[in-house]
Amino acid sequence: MDAQELREAYVNFFKERGHAYIRSASLIPENDPTVLFTTAGMHPLVPYLLGEKHPEGTRLVDFQKCVRTGDIDEVGDASHLTFFEMLGNWSLGDYFKKESIQYSFDLLQTVLKIPVDHLAVTAFAGEDGIPKDTETAELWKSHGLKDDQIFFYGRKDNWWGPAGQTGPCGPDTEIFFDDGRPKCCDACGPSCHCGKYTEIWNNVFMQYFKDADGKFSPLKQKNVDTGMGLERVLRIINGKETVYDTELFQPIIRKVEEISGKKYADDMRSFRIIADHLRAATFLLGDGVVPAKMGQGYILRRLVRRASRYMSKLGFDGVYMQQIAEIIVRDYSAAYPELKQNEKEIYEKLTAEEEKFHKTLAKGLRRFDEMLAENGDSKVLNGELVFKLYDTFGFPVELTQELAQEKGLTVDINDFNNRFKEHQEKSRAGSDQIFKGGLADHTVETTKLHTATHLLNAALRNLIDPDIRQKGSNITAERLRFDFNFDRKLTPEELKAIEKYVNDAIKADIPVVCKEMSLEDAKKSGAIGVFDSKYGQTVKAYIIGDISAELCGGPHVTHTGELQGFKIKKEESSAAGVRRIKAVVGKFD
Ligand code: ALA
Repeated sequence: MDAQELREAYVNFFKERGHAYIRSASLIPENDPTVLFTTAGMHPLVPYLLGEKHPEGTRLVDFQKCVRTGDIDEVGDASHLTFFEMLGNWSLGDYFKKESIQYSFDLLQTVLKIPVDHLAVTAFAGEDGIPKDTETAELWKSHGLKDDQIFFYGRKDNWWGPAGQTGPCGPDTEIFFDDGRPKCCDACGPSCHCGKYTEIWNNVFMQYFKDADGKFSPLKQKNVDTGMGLERVLRIINGKETVYDTELFQPIIRKVEEISGKKYADDMRSFRIIADHLRAATFLLGDGVVPAKMGQGYILRRLVRRASRYMSKLGFDGVYMQQIAEIIVRDYSAAYPELKQNEKEIYEKLTAEEEKFHKTLAKGLRRFDEMLAENGDSKVLNGELVFKLYDTFGFPVELTQELAQEKGLTVDINDFNNRFKEHQEKSRAGSDQIFKGGLADHTVETTKLHTATHLLNAALRNLIDPDIRQKGSNITAERLRFDFNFDRKLTPEELKAIEKYVNDAIKADIPVVCKEMSLEDAKKSGAIGVFDSKYGQTVKAYIIGDISAELCGGPHVTHTGELQGFKIKKEESSAAGVRRIKAVVGKFD
């Protein structure tokens, strides 16, 4: 089975069982200030897991693009990836454990054809007043799994979520492929990392809400949230050794061989880094991320730079990335048509960033020469300097080691590793921080700001330019941030007029009405929506009088008067051709 067949087989299996197929959401979370990227299939569904009505019903299925950057520096081994695809099915207050396990078991048997004795599963052992999940174990047994295939683990291993600090979460049952080799030790089981067990699917029984104080309360509805790693499953069902040996990566690797003149077998790590990073970069560019100093754009920049460095490690210093991106667009557009749609932009931005890095690299090499002088007579290059090259110029430590070697020096690798670890912990802590709140944080304030965003969008289109489109939106409890295409600074008069437009709408206390309709009707009605590609046939549109009609998942206030007032705090450039407005709501004198 190839990747596209697997995606389709998964979706069809659940469609036959009453699930509606929804398109993959963007890698950029919509109106979620707390995460950089979509990290799981459930992410775009948080409002619905909390009880908002989903226009497609209570059973959903999809394959979702995801990016996780916590382990970016681990990429290069056999399994870590930054970009991956998650197959998932959901019950939004519909079925629960029994059907979920039944569906999973049937899919494992009929679609993936994994023999029962190659399965191992886990269940929640009970902790913090939440009881042991014997029901799950019994259900698996009813499908023929033996006691020694069922493992009980506690909170650390057998609980999923929330994705941020607060949000929906619950105990899970994780499904593993057991490759049949002997256990590595007595304690060997699914949580062991010896390689015997590979997690392929996770069924989360989302029935709790974790609040900011760390307390758990039952959710309004009991949900099922599942996630299956496409790359891993493809590897297993096709008997491949690593995910890189699947057709998801092989054409990319072949192309790198062609460009570099080197063989994959000679330096697998470099090849894997290039393939993974450029796959992630291509998808990020396809979703409109542009290289930048911060946020999503910074991650994109890091991916491109690291790929570039490893390509020169393979001995190739020319511009090559577009050729790789072309392979990715070709192979992935059937599943993700936005790649083909945005092809031109992807290539342009990628090549521009690649060329820019070549210049930085030249500077980095000059800095290296200066470092040699700063290092004095010592034959060991100090870790601080090596780390600076890594951090500022994106030099992998191996490159610095090679450069040092050419000059008869070694690198203080322990010192570098310590600094690197410290940096990694800090950036992990940083990415945890960004999770604070999450989409689950549906406070009154963020809801108001969400409605204000629609009004601002309407003001810009009605007053400034009807071609203005949303390029990004980010809402915290304090402010909204709205990015849109426009190629010059707005004048103070224009900003005043926009403020007045929104404030007039607030004063008029217009009802905000949610309407469900087919995508075709929505398009006909002139509703706008930059995120329409993720929706299926039925969509929700929020309509504010004759001012605004936008496809959106909500939630929104019921009347514009609830916003009280609107104030623009800042207008600035966000990227080439993109402006950014930050604004607040509330009572202003
Ligand atoms: N949300 C669950 C996961 O990511 C399914 O593992």
